[in-house]
Amino acid sequence: MFSIRNILLFIVFVAFLDHGACSAFNRSSFPPGFLFGVATAAYQYEGAPTEGGKGPSIWDTFTHSHPEKILDRSNGDVTEDFYHRYKEDLKNVKKMGMNTFRFSISWPRILPNGSLSGGIKKEGVDYYNSLINEVVANGLEPFVTLFHWDLPQALEDNIWVS
Ligand SMILES: *[C@@H]1O[C@H](CO)[C@@H](O)[C@H](O)[C@H]1NC(C)=O
Ligand SMILES: *[C@@H]1O[C@H](CO)[C@@H](O)[C@H](O)[C@H]1NC(C)=O
Repeated sequence: MFSIRNILLFIVFVAFLDHGACSAFNRSSFPPGFLFGVATAAYQYEGAPTEGGKGPSIWDTFTHSHPEKILDRSNGDVTEDFYHRYKEDLKNVKKMGMNTFRFSISWPRILPNGSLSGGIKKEGVDYYNSLINEVVANGLEPFVTLFHWDLPQALEDNIWVS
């Protein structure tokens, strides 16, 4: 699975190249148009599990009802607090010299009740709109993962009922 550790390793790798520690192999060794970026996944990064009317995802349910299944009993309630700190984070992504930023859309932020007929949460849509605007304002190209496994709990429940 995706991990923050892998991103950090990649950043260290890029920083290593940028500092000329290996001048024969550096950023200009990549083909023109090659994009350097960082990537995130909503559940592991956003925190704010109930803000803006977000419904629970299957990961919220699982980590809250079975903390013993998680090595350090942690959950995604706060994480990097990206939901609140994305502007600051994106400035840092820009400072690192990245070209792109990848994030995932948390379905339960937009469909808290698991379906279109259950209502679209405007706060969720507004949040991702602001995020995309901020990515673009920092000169970064947004890449979107449409689904990164944080299914709305209500949708999971309905699948098994019907
Ligand atoms: C980057 O690598 C190229 C060869 O791929 C080399 O010609 C160039 O001098 C290197 N640039 C830096 C800043 O080390
Ligand atoms: C989801 O369902 C609850 C309870 O029926 C309702 O109060 C809420 O407004 C619904 N959410 C949306 C986005 O319509």
